[in-house]
Amino acid sequence: MDHKPGAYKVRDLRLANAGRMRIEWAESRMPVLAQLRAEYAPSQPFQGYKITGCLHVTKETAVLVETFAACGAAVAWSGCNPLSTNDKVAAALALGGIEIYAWYGQSVEEFYWSIDRTIDTPPHLTLDDGADLIFTVHNRFPHLAEHIIGGSEETTTGVQRLRAMAQDGKLLYPVYAVNDTETKWDFDNVYGTGQSTLDGILRASSVLIAGKNFVVAGYGHCGRGVAMRAKGLGANVIVTEVKPTAALKATLEGMRVMPMHEAAAIGDVFVTATGMKDIIRGDHFASMKDGAVVCNTGHYDVELNLKELNTLATGSRVIRKDNREYSLEDGRKLFILAEGRLVNLAAAEGHPSEVMDMSFANQFMAHLRLVKQRERGELPGNVVMDLPSSVDQHIAALKLETMGLKIDTLTPEQEAYATDYSAGT
Ligand code: ADE
Repeated sequence: MDHKPGAYKVRDLRLANAGRMRIEWAESRMPVLAQLRAEYAPSQPFQGYKITGCLHVTKETAVLVETFAACGAAVAWSGCNPLSTNDKVAAALALGGIEIYAWYGQSVEEFYWSIDRTIDTPPHLTLDDGADLIFTVHNRFPHLAEHIIGGSEETTTGVQRLRAMAQDGKLLYPVYAVNDTETKWDFDNVYGTGQSTLDGILRASSVLIAGKNFVVAGYGHCGRGVAMRAKGLGANVIVTEVKPTAALKATLEGMRVMPMHEAAAIGDVFVTATGMKDIIRGDHFASMKDGAVVCNTGHYDVELNLKELNTLATGSRVIRKDNREYSLEDGRKLFILAEGRLVNLAAAEGHPSEVMDMSFANQFMAHLRLVKQRERGELPGNVVMDLPSSVDQHIAALKLETMGLKIDTLTPEQEAYATDYSAGT
């Protein structure tokens, strides 16, 4: 691809060719997004709009970014985690003329510097994974909100916080909760997180999963996906929970349920997927078996209290990529993967393209709706909005079609039966 000059800061532009091949690989497995691109590019619905995104810079994200650009948008991007950027992909995007500030291994200062650069020119639309961009606008650059039509949020954690902001009257523009669409959470959170988390653990440790006590903290959609995949590989899965219904579901799905202080002493591999801080802390680390492998797949790096582990440990060293060995006083060794950051993106490549296809089709539709709502004067107030279920069904139908699968349709008599309240036994 010719280099159209755009503002960028990436690790090394020479990685661009390798990045372009990764993007092509992802593209060939994201047919729904390809269809949306083919459908909307001719009418250029984003012409005149700038979309700023803060979301993991992966090969799948590149396909989304280039879909927005192909449909007329000016795009500026940064990563949403200091350890999740693929430098090859970032270089390919920069070389293709996308404004991007992202590289693997950013410091926290560099992370926020990158976000700030993406809003030097005020955006019309914001796209978040974890809400760091929207919080930056609200906390440090609230005047930009006047210019912003709306935004979208990709994750459970981000949506929870934005709903709280909206409830307190603090949200400055409307946001689509992309996370909450069925074609996102029911696939990406479950099968995406399930597979990519195991992928990250294996790349960083290569431990045998079969026969191990595999502890999953949190049995939401993500934790459930991880537990299912660990079970499939032959682990004895233990689930820790605070929510009675989730714990019950785990039990009935064949997992053992117990509190973390019991699980800590018998676990071989630990994964946190809760969105809550301090899930595994000093007293838990202190009781772990020699050789325990511990990681997090939740959005923020707050689930493992590594400060308390550092206090307990006599020392630590990186023993292999994404794997730090901590030595305890009595000689036990504990292994923390990816510095407690999300192991599926830091140590592996994130969710497979096939599931991101649907998640990002939802992102595309959310932004298209924002633009159309704005043009028709139909934007609501500063609320967190769900995408209508028709969007979900459309995306699912497209996905099925691209998989060559056909389904039944109800007959008119069946349609009538569904709402016939005179029908009974
Ligand atoms: N979140 C989880 N997996 C991802 C991926 N492959 N790309 C972007 N965001 C993700």
